[in-house]
Amino acid sequence: MCSVLGLIVCLLLNFRPARAATWYFLRYNAPSGSQFLSFSGTMSIPTLKKAGTYYLWPGLQPTDNSGVYQNVLDGRSGTWWIGSGWCCSNPSLPWGSGFNVNAGDTVTFSNMKGSSNWTSTLKKNSTGEGVSNDFALASKSFNQAIFAIELDGVSWDFGSLTFSNVVITASGADTSWCTKAPENYKSATNYAISGVSVSVNNSVITCRINSVILQSPR
Ligand SMILES: *[C@@H]1O[C@H](CO)[C@@H](O)[C@H](O)[C@H]1NC(C)=O
Ligand SMILES: *[C@@H]1O[C@H](CO)[C@@H](O)[C@H](O)[C@H]1NC(C)=O
Ligand SMILES: *[C@@H]1O[C@H](CO)[C@@H](O)[C@H](O)[C@H]1NC(C)=O
Repeated sequence: MCSVLGLIVCLLLNFRPARAATWYFLRYNAPSGSQFLSFSGTMSIPTLKKAGTYYLWPGLQPTDNSGVYQNVLDGRSGTWWIGSGWCCSNPSLPWGSGFNVNAGDTVTFSNMKGSSNWTSTLKKNSTGEGVSNDFALASKSFNQAIFAIELDGVSWDFGSLTFSNVVITASGADTSWCTKAPENYKSATNYAISGVSVSVNNSVITCRINSVILQSPR
């Protein structure tokens, strides 16, 4: 739930134990002057072995690293729950609604920038159950698109984490952020990416990625 760079601030705000979370993440960095306009895809829900602080999320971070706008698959109760929100302050916004999911489900997520809000939509593929929430974040300039595994007191014991049909749109004209390999934080993750294509129309870059798989710790 913490931003990947604002971790210490987030820990303080949440009054969490000052124990470092273990991070695995891939990050697409938009170049200066470019910002993300939407982020969508399908997340395949892995097996949850036990209750624990497993936060698995696709999310966006702004240029000032003031927080993270994320769709979090949360294992704390022992049953996966997924919901979207902005962590943690500046602005302080209520967390969005969500629902339980199980191993084998797929959830489509969509985060879209509007005139004053970003809108998150989550939908469980097996039942069609879905939620939609607005977050007053349009003043943020999101320049980082992240696929993260954030663990506290548990290990990566759920197998691979697969995202498919990923579409990221951005302003600007430089498409290299899409076609080059994402940043692999501390080279900690074995991953596979396939089917990348990019197009530009009316100053909007559309980056499509067939699959992003975080396979295992390295
Ligand atoms: C949704 O589920 C159906 C079958 O239940 C499957 O054919 C389809 O590919 C799934 N869609 C996504 C986006 O995973
Ligand atoms: C932004 O979200 C709020 C809260 O859901 C809503 O009342 C408002 O109409 C939204 N504004 C726009 C421009 O979508
Ligand atoms: C390019 O964008 C415009 C709207 O900005 C749209 O009408 C048009 O269909 C798009 N062209 C392609 C090839 O997607």
